[in-house]
Amino acid sequence: MELCVALDLPSKEKNIELAQKLRDYPLWLKVGLRSFIRDGKEFVQELQSLGEFKIFLDLKLYDIPNTMADAAEEIAKMGVEMFNIHASAGMEAMSGVMQRLQSLPKRPLVLAVTALTSFDEEQFAKIYNDTIEHKAKQFAKEAYEARLDGVVCSAFESRVIKRITHEDFLTLAPGIRPFGESSDDQKRVADLKLAKQNQVDIIVVGRPIYQASDPKAVVQEILTKL
Ligand code: C5P
Repeated sequence: MELCVALDLPSKEKNIELAQKLRDYPLWLKVGLRSFIRDGKEFVQELQSLGEFKIFLDLKLYDIPNTMADAAEEIAKMGVEMFNIHASAGMEAMSGVMQRLQSLPKRPLVLAVTALTSFDEEQFAKIYNDTIEHKAKQFAKEAYEARLDGVVCSAFESRVIKRITHEDFLTLAPGIRPFGESSDDQKRVADLKLAKQNQVDIIVVGRPIYQASDPKAVVQEILTKL
């Protein structure tokens, strides 16, 4: 299992400060919409120059197939190691992204977002006319068929997704409270043990690290338990 730290601090300076503290560790860093819209490519380049970090650009692309493939190519040019797209954009869009990336000398990993965790069943059914679990499994299968590298999912779904796709199909799970810390606004949280039992490949941890008085110590502690 690998650790991805969510850079969700309110300013570029604070995010860079955190990354600097963690530069000695083999980590993924997650750059989300807010940071990317505010701080752009320069922010990503600064992170890349800090250390051996792998960058996960969490922009959740959703558009027509050609636009998604164009955007994916631009992301690949930035030299990040991973980004994500919505499975609900459809098979054509997902396959199109992968085809475009295959033609490049080096490509990032691509994950599919199945169901946003902010939905409850009623809200979800209004859009997808299905249950969250059923649709999420279908999206995962489609992402696998479209040759993506994996999905974003909860630690609880990781095992079943691997069972219906392939054991090498990556699962990345947010909502992790490594040692049973406060769940904050997350509805269902898993600790390290549960994530491991469910064969999660990459865990995303934000607040338990960046709100800690000593983020480095927390990262170190997590890394020894992966
Ligand atoms: O602070 P915390 O560990 O809860 O942060 C989790 C990170 O993962 C945040 O950046 C959040 O936006 C993201 N995320 C999530 N649930 C999803 C997808 C992304 O918590 N389903």
